[in-house]
Amino acid sequence: MQFTAMILSNVEVSPGYWRMRMTAPSECAAARPGQFMMVRVTGAIDPLLRRPFGIFDVGCHIPAQSGAVRQPYLEMLYRVVGKGTALLATLHASDLIDLLAPLGKGFDLGEADGEKLIVGGGVGLAPLYLLAKELVKQSKVRLFAGGRTRDDILCITEFERLGVECYTATEDGSLGECGLVTEALLRRLDQLQGKATIYACGPHGMLNAVAVIAAERGIPCQVSLEGYMACGVGACLGCVAPGRGHSPETPDFRCVCTEGPVFESGELKWRD
Ligand SMILES: Cc1cc2nc3c(=O)[nH]c(=O)nc-3n(C[C@H](O)[C@H](O)[C@H](O)COP(=O)(O)OP(=O)(O)OC[C@H]3O[C@@H](n4cnc5c(N)ncnc54)[C@H](O)[C@@H]3O)c2cc1C
Ligand code: FES
Repeated sequence: MQFTAMILSNVEVSPGYWRMRMTAPSECAAARPGQFMMVRVTGAIDPLLRRPFGIFDVGCHIPAQSGAVRQPYLEMLYRVVGKGTALLATLHASDLIDLLAPLGKGFDLGEADGEKLIVGGGVGLAPLYLLAKELVKQSKVRLFAGGRTRDDILCITEFERLGVECYTATEDGSLGECGLVTEALLRRLDQLQGKATIYACGPHGMLNAVAVIAAERGIPCQVSLEGYMACGVGACLGCVAPGRGHSPETPDFRCVCTEGPVFESGELKWRD
């Protein structure tokens, strides 16, 4: 649905990363983990296109005055990379923005047995918090969070408060293990001997590595893609990703905004 949201807060949580909370209609309280929103970052002409962002959290704002109506809200966690996100970072509480939400197909929570292993890289952690909130109700959940430096490891305290066991790895060694977070994932998978489900979101290289690990071990794995999107509703086909059977002779594409952004990793084409 399309609606005008009022910003409740917009805070820099790590250098270059912001967390925005905004009002939402009560229908958005039913948003599923992994669904996303399309945000019109300004009322002006430029930038014209909406920008896609994962839903970080949903909840209910309790106003200070007793007796006042509770206000459902949506949250997003975003990284400033260009014009649109730079404009978002200038917005303040009580500013208005136009949203389309909730969109797309989210994560399938799967069966309760086995551990749930969540793998997130940088701002790829954004749609994984709401997922963790749901998964902890039924299973043991571990988070493997990776980034280039400690500034890219976001909201770990929030995950820990849910009861999620968190592992961190940074490429420069400034937080957690020095190296790639997939190393810690591999160690845990060895201990579990395959009884696990993986959920991942992050840079394409990380998703590719996780998808290959899951395929080699026959472990169910869902990935959330964060490519480019123009419309977010299946009209422009600007977001397509190659499906498992894709080749120049037999094109096979998935529309990320309507069939995803979450896919079983085996549905997509990856590099070996
Ligand atoms: C389903 C989905 C969910 C997403 N969720 C989040 C989220 O929760 N938090 C978040 O911070 N970002 C998320 N993104 C990415 C986000 O949409 C882009 O970062 C944003 O649109 C950039 O807008 P901009 O105007 O600031 O950058 P632009 O000015 O459009 O681009 C600036 C630079 O960033 C690059 N860029 C733009 N978009 C992307 C992209 N999708 N992937 C890689 N590089 C890009 C451009 O090539 C350019 O170099 C998501 C994307 C998708 C498709
Ligand atoms: S963004 Fe237009 S079809 Fe997906």
